[in-house]
Amino acid sequence: MSRKLKGYEFYERILKSPKYIVAPMVDQSEYAWRILSNRYGADLCYTPMLHARLFSQPDGKYMKENWQTGSEDKPLIAQFCANEPDVLLAAAKLVENECDAVDINLGCPQHIAKRGRYGAYLQDEWELIAEMVKTLNEGLDIPVTCKIRVFPDVEKTIRYAKMIEAAGCQLLTVHGRLREQKGHKTGLADWEQIRQVKQAVSIPVFANGNILYLEDIDRCIAATGVDGVMTAEGNLYNPGLFTGKHYASWKLAEEYLQICRDVPNSSTVSAIRGHLFKMFKPCLHEHTDLRTLLAKVQSLDGMIDLVAQLKARLVEVSGGAEEYNPEGGFETDEAGFRKLPSWVLQPYFRVDGTLKTKPTVAEIVEETDSAATKECLTKDEECLFSGESKTPGATLPPAESKAVDDAGEPDTTGTKKRSATSNAENVPKGT
Ligand SMILES: Cc1cc2nc3c(=O)[nH]c(=O)nc-3n(C[C@H](O)[C@H](O)[C@H](O)COP(=O)(O)O)c2cc1C
Repeated sequence: MSRKLKGYEFYERILKSPKYIVAPMVDQSEYAWRILSNRYGADLCYTPMLHARLFSQPDGKYMKENWQTGSEDKPLIAQFCANEPDVLLAAAKLVENECDAVDINLGCPQHIAKRGRYGAYLQDEWELIAEMVKTLNEGLDIPVTCKIRVFPDVEKTIRYAKMIEAAGCQLLTVHGRLREQKGHKTGLADWEQIRQVKQAVSIPVFANGNILYLEDIDRCIAATGVDGVMTAEGNLYNPGLFTGKHYASWKLAEEYLQICRDVPNSSTVSAIRGHLFKMFKPCLHEHTDLRTLLAKVQSLDGMIDLVAQLKARLVEVSGGAEEYNPEGGFETDEAGFRKLPSWVLQPYFRVDGTLKTKPTVAEIVEETDSAATKECLTKDEECLFSGESKTPGATLPPAESKAVDDAGEPDTTGTKKRSATSNAENVPKGT
């Protein structure tokens, strides 16, 4: 059987009809995390975004630092950002025998993507997008897929999706947010736009956005008719999300650290720190001494020791339960969100409540220009920039640490302002 199947044949026979999908996440969907996610129900994972031009450099340095896969990856899609078809093809060729498809990032909304002319900033360059998709479709032995954001006008989104399909894209992920929905303007994803795109194209479609619990995935499929659902933050804060369970955070943290130990170079100290901050987010404010320590630890052994200390404290509260499964089901608050104890993995609600409110398009567009000049980093940007210290020595072991904010914790609210450090390639280091 030829590997180069199209559309639904590719989706069913190569990808095995995935429903639960882990999003591409810079510095966070690294191999160790994919192994953990696969063990807890993920059907398909994406690599973090890779920069095509750096990846295809003859010295192979960037590729060596950023490419990792192995027998515990299930179906795997490698994601690239690019704006030159030939360069993209050259980079994709280097991995076509080690993954199942190559995805083009057309959704990154960061200012650094604007400067670098990639991600969602290609939304206005349809000819270039078509050329990149066509070049990969014709030149690769594996299919090409794309991840897009939506336009304010659903008709335009549909035309955009159909253009990408016509160019040779074999599977489309629709993140139901506008390019302007970032940082404190993140708001909710628009499932209705996703539904209409799904109806308009013939290739498989994944929906992305608004997933807090396992049940949301079925709700999303029912509302949109998509073939699978991708989650980023839902998976980061609760890597057990696809099982429908709320495990003790220390349990999955221990397992993740064991993977990091067992599989050499499968993660970095920077990535591990980011994961631990998110997994322990609900309880770290109760253990500020350990939170400060987590910001400083420089080695895998140090991380393991820290998690052991935190576990000892959490077990005192939980009695050692590995899972929170109250008789009679989960209690919910007035908004319908689960009440969960701080020792379990759970979705994170941003302080500004962006998951609960949706700004109007007018509000978003009105504030976009001023927001851009303020260099207010998005949640994606925070994560991307948080990989800045990933250097050749930063794979484990030993490792360098990443920058965290003054409180010793990455700013996941997207509301803090930092200056967006520029670099020559306009790519976040570590991608
Ligand atoms: C830490 C982090 C890193 C991300 N990196 C990427 C990336 O490399 N490529 C990409 O297309 N999107 C990236 N994103 C965006 C996600 O893939 C996803 O589209 C977005 O977070 C919305 O999904 P969610 O609501 O499930 O979080 C990133 C998001 C996060 C939180």
